[in-house]
Amino acid sequence: MLPKINPTTTGAWKKLEEYYETFSETHIKNLFENDSNRFEKYSLKFEDILVDYSKNCLDDTAKAALIELAGECGLKNAIESMFSGEKINATENRAVLHVALRNRSNSPIIVDGEDVMPEVNAVLDQMKDFSEKVISGEWKGYTGKPITDVVNIGIGGSDLGPLMVTEALKPYKNHLNLHFVSNVDGTHIAETLKEVNPETTLFIVASKTFTTQETMTNANSARSWFLDSAKNENFIKSHFVAVSTNKEEVAKFGIDTKNMFRFWNWVGGRYSLWSAIGLSIVLGIGFENYIQLLEGAHAMDNHFRNTEFDKNIPVILALIGIWYNNFYGAETEAILPYDQYMHRFAAYFQQGNMESNGKYVDRNGKQVDYQTGPIIWGEPGTNGQHAFYQLIHQGTKLIPCDFIAPAVSHNPISDHHPKLLANFFAQTEAMMVGKTKEQVKAELKAAGKTDEEIESLLPFKVFQGNIPTNSILVKKLTPRTLGSLIAMYEHKIFVQGVIWNIYSFDQWGVELGKQLAKTILPELEGSEPVTGHDDSTNGLINAYKEMRK
Ligand code: F6P
Repeated sequence: MLPKINPTTTGAWKKLEEYYETFSETHIKNLFENDSNRFEKYSLKFEDILVDYSKNCLDDTAKAALIELAGECGLKNAIESMFSGEKINATENRAVLHVALRNRSNSPIIVDGEDVMPEVNAVLDQMKDFSEKVISGEWKGYTGKPITDVVNIGIGGSDLGPLMVTEALKPYKNHLNLHFVSNVDGTHIAETLKEVNPETTLFIVASKTFTTQETMTNANSARSWFLDSAKNENFIKSHFVAVSTNKEEVAKFGIDTKNMFRFWNWVGGRYSLWSAIGLSIVLGIGFENYIQLLEGAHAMDNHFRNTEFDKNIPVILALIGIWYNNFYGAETEAILPYDQYMHRFAAYFQQGNMESNGKYVDRNGKQVDYQTGPIIWGEPGTNGQHAFYQLIHQGTKLIPCDFIAPAVSHNPISDHHPKLLANFFAQTEAMMVGKTKEQVKAELKAAGKTDEEIESLLPFKVFQGNIPTNSILVKKLTPRTLGSLIAMYEHKIFVQGVIWNIYSFDQWGVELGKQLAKTILPELEGSEPVTGHDDSTNGLINAYKEMRK
């Protein structure tokens, strides 16, 4: 079980608070001036991944105290509790075992007295068989034609993971066209259905619960659209498969439960791309590439489980995040991939992180009096540079950033990639070193400006710098590397949740809105004015009804 320690009561926390008082005056560039070996000391290598965390407001004292904090908060045991299948998701009484889904060593993992690995492997075999049939064209639609398009219908973890991964691994894509429908806005399904042919389309209804409003609404619309052409419910089994934990609801929908890919309540939605929720990934890039993704994640799992904290990449990243979140007062973290294929990576970890650690109640059921999960956001470079980097460089908020880039591009066209990487390196350098008054003055003088002009322009052109960044450089974005990167961030989130003394694997915060929407939906019918809510909500609903007349 996870410990229930308020981190602010630990000795390490007090140490960090005290140290912050003086250390926060230190500029990162001074840390480099005082240590010629800083890059070597503050970077970690894992297979083809280099994590440089030297451009942070961090020195040996702060790092040691952060590691002490992890120790005092019982991190080591917490990691073992997760890996060994203890029910650490206590509010749902569930184990947390996405690590079992990629446990390529196949060592037994016991939940409720049973090894889960045979089940995990059986579903992988089922995914392999099925995907090979669809990819090879052996699986036929109702008019005997092979499948050309796959539409994954799901939302949240049943959408973002497969979408992010299939985008990131596009260079490995086969001939099948993949589509993802998530939003309950009819536009999403309508526009997707315009692109596909009922005779050659396979729908994957991906929902752990098989009750999620958005997914079931989209699935039912897809079903009606399909039946408009196929005219016969018997054909549904050739065009609809399900990924779910809810066999009963899957059968009710009309899907042959032989074509249901199961997973288990110990797989959290936002950690489910490693389960059968990854079926669209398997269909898009083939089973062997999917296995490589799992292998990469498993390798990172081993690193996380077995490496001392001072060399443990997810632990170090998590501790650095806590340093800024809880001591420097940073409220957000940006994830900035310099790789167009990774354009949904930040969005994916927006759910991964914010649904996991956006909690104000601790593991004792008490309201916390310290900050927990940060706001996660980001866009691929270099587009972000022309949008929000101004605020990072010269705004009033501290925004720690993760830069991620592959050294080798899948598209080595002319000098695009060196230009992309030059921007990556330049931005992390600029964020750290900034630009002094003296430098600006010299530049303006060289450009022929008068003293008066220089004086008036000076304040606007100075950059204070001291903006912390992690640089994550990978050799090439392969399925294995991507698997490792995703697992790295997953474990970072886990570590932070353990230290913040919150439950990272439930998501009660999404329930209230869902409940109220259920109440409101029938009230939108008819012309009777609605009076049962607050004045604003009544007013809006009634205005909506008027506008529809
Ligand atoms: O957003 C809440 C949530 O429960 C997520 O955790 C989950 O990924 C998503 O809804 C979808 O749930 P399901 O797979 O059950 O449809």
